[in-house]
Amino acid sequence: MKIIIAKDYEEMSKEAALLIAEEIRSKPNSVLGLATGSTPIGCYQELVRMYKEKGLDFSAVTSFNLDEYFGLPADHEQSYAYFMQKNLFTQINIDIKNTHIPNGVTKNVEEECQKYDSLIEEKGGIDLQLLGVGVNGHIGFNEPDEELKIGTHLVDLTENTIKANSRFFHSIEEVPKKAITMGLGPIMKAKKILLLASGKNKAEIIAKIVNGKCSTKVPASILQVHPQLTIIVDEEIGQHLKVNNVLDNCLL
Ligand code: GLP
Repeated sequence: MKIIIAKDYEEMSKEAALLIAEEIRSKPNSVLGLATGSTPIGCYQELVRMYKEKGLDFSAVTSFNLDEYFGLPADHEQSYAYFMQKNLFTQINIDIKNTHIPNGVTKNVEEECQKYDSLIEEKGGIDLQLLGVGVNGHIGFNEPDEELKIGTHLVDLTENTIKANSRFFHSIEEVPKKAITMGLGPIMKAKKILLLASGKNKAEIIAKIVNGKCSTKVPASILQVHPQLTIIVDEEIGQHLKVNNVLDNCLL
């Protein structure tokens, strides 16, 4: 595990974008695993800047998003499909046919999930998976539970997640209660993983992920065993990590 402690959100975002750009430059047809939530927005803005100012070329890139709210069509303002269009896809030269997000209004969930997993396999798996994390330790929408699922699946969101994500909706009642999420399989099989977190409300969960036990109650704690995991946090989080454990890995 490599931990980068950036000064603040802006620096975290820039560092993350640099690593993604490095991936794309070394392998132009990279398969990227993409995330939503507020955390990666700065990173996406930086990637857009690199596309516009430095010619970072996304034309051969394929992407798979982690998740989508169940019941929200792609043109719903709070759907993750809409989020990706707005924050990244329409602003870079990625071929929209190469971008993939679970269909939140599918009539056949099982088939949708199987197709999603097969397509990821067909493309050779994910080269670089970008992740945020929920305050309860969820990645994608893999919520704390007795067991973790490997494949893409329909999940009941926890009350905690519904409450946390209600800030994006007019009222908590509007937040979908279910989502389709990639399982732990494709995430853990990704060749590289990049986890981002900033702000003091994520300090406790990041400390658990970095220094705590591996547990299904903290889904992101499984990332500890990934051979190519980079975590970028800001100082608000970095100061709560056990320094001895991270010193060797600390780049900034
Ligand atoms: C959602 C997404 C996650 C994301 C999490 C954290 O629940 N499904 O992929 O990591 O939110 O969001 P934020 O970055 O806004 O804290």
